Amino acid sequence: MWYLVLLVILSLIAYFITDELILKLLNLFVKAGLYGIDLCKTEKKKIPEAIGVVSGCVFLVVSFLFIPIIFGNSLMDTQNFPHNEFAEFLAALLSICCMLLLGFADDVLDLRWRYKLLLPTVASLPLLVVYYVNFNSTTFIVPIPLRQWFGISINIGLLYYIYMGMLAVFCTNAINILAGINGLEVGQSVIIALSIIIFDIIELRGDQYKAHAFSLQIMIPYLATTLALMKHNWYPSKVFVGDTFCYVSGMTFAVVGILSHFSKTVLLFFLPQIINFIYSVPQLFHFVPCPRHRLPKYSGETDLLEASRTIIIKKDMNSLTKIIVHVCTLLRVIDKKEDNESIVINNMTLINLFLIKFGPMSELSLTIRLLIFQIICSGIAFIIRYPLASYFYDG
Ligand code: UD1
Ligand code: MG
Repeated sequence: MWYLVLLVILSLIAYFITDELILKLLNLFVKAGLYGIDLCKTEKKKIPEAIGVVSGCVFLVVSFLFIPIIFGNSLMDTQNFPHNEFAEFLAALLSICCMLLLGFADDVLDLRWRYKLLLPTVASLPLLVVYYVNFNSTTFIVPIPLRQWFGISINIGLLYYIYMGMLAVFCTNAINILAGINGLEVGQSVIIALSIIIFDIIELRGDQYKAHAFSLQIMIPYLATTLALMKHNWYPSKVFVGDTFCYVSGMTFAVVGILSHFSKTVLLFFLPQIINFIYSVPQLFHFVPCPRHRLPKYSGETDLLEASRTIIIKKDMNSLTKIIVHVCTLLRVIDKKEDNESIVINNMTLINLFLIKFGPMSELSLTIRLLIFQIICSGIAFIIRYPLASYFYDG
């Protein structure tokens, strides 16, 4: 494992390079028209956008430099060169690289939602091909309580590939829609990355150590470059990470989940994102009107954030919208105000849900609370993965 120590040193250097590069390139982004306005501040300054491209590039460069280090010994012995492991590493980098490019295109061109769903699917194809060639294991181990009906394992064939493609789409978009307040996109990614790294370190002693070493090779440089980005994106943000960062992060997590065979565990670390996605479904599929921005509303007088709202015109409501509003009211997950013509509810995001449950608060405390929730969810994920897993799976 000596090469992991080397990787940590390389990643430390990458941290400082990313930090410096971001400072040097800030103004170039604004000059190129790549900037956004911080919607939760009184001052309407131009903040450089899509800075995730800088951390993403350094991450990829470190990973490329790492190739001769991991495969150095095998390069001398061409007969026994581990072609399958090499293809796996290259496919992982190719998929991440594609997302970097597509995310940057999205930041520059502001793509429509249908492309946001299509692009990660296309970018995950190299991964799926390598998975097919190297493993092609599409068997699903059935949890113990269900074995009397389904047997020990089921081969779900093509469905498994569809699941993996959808995992890439989910991971990339789920981070992008739990966003809009300073430090949240990077903060959640750092916590997910740390959770995966802790999981890998625990599993390094197990029989799947090779898969977990592979995951560490990707996660360590990712974490280092993301921490440098977080330094500048933390409240009050001097840079915005852009969709580039969300896509690169989501794809990185999907890549390690798929190629290291722990996609279900990765999904467990995405618990807040899953809750946010399910809660967002009515707006994402336009059963409830969805404005361009659903981020919280800033009040200049109090300097606090409150839940942003959307208006549903009663005469435009179909029965499905009525059922959604009714069920959400019963479950007390929306804050509703009603008059004769319209219903006003909060935009359905986890961020706004925190604001209606805990009351208006500053941007910083909102980010911190959401990140604490992410950490608690990672703790729950570890409990499900370890002590509880023995009730569902043997060994
Ligand atoms: C997603 C969300 C949108 C949310 C936006 C915020 C959905 C369907 N889309 O859209 O509701 O408003 O992310 O990122 O849920 N911004 C800030 N402060 C921040 C980060 C971003 O004010 O800390 C604003 C800036 O004006 C920035 C813009 O958000 O320019 C970036 O939005 P963008 O990433 O383009 O939005 P989407 O990802 O399309
Ligand atoms: Mg975004």
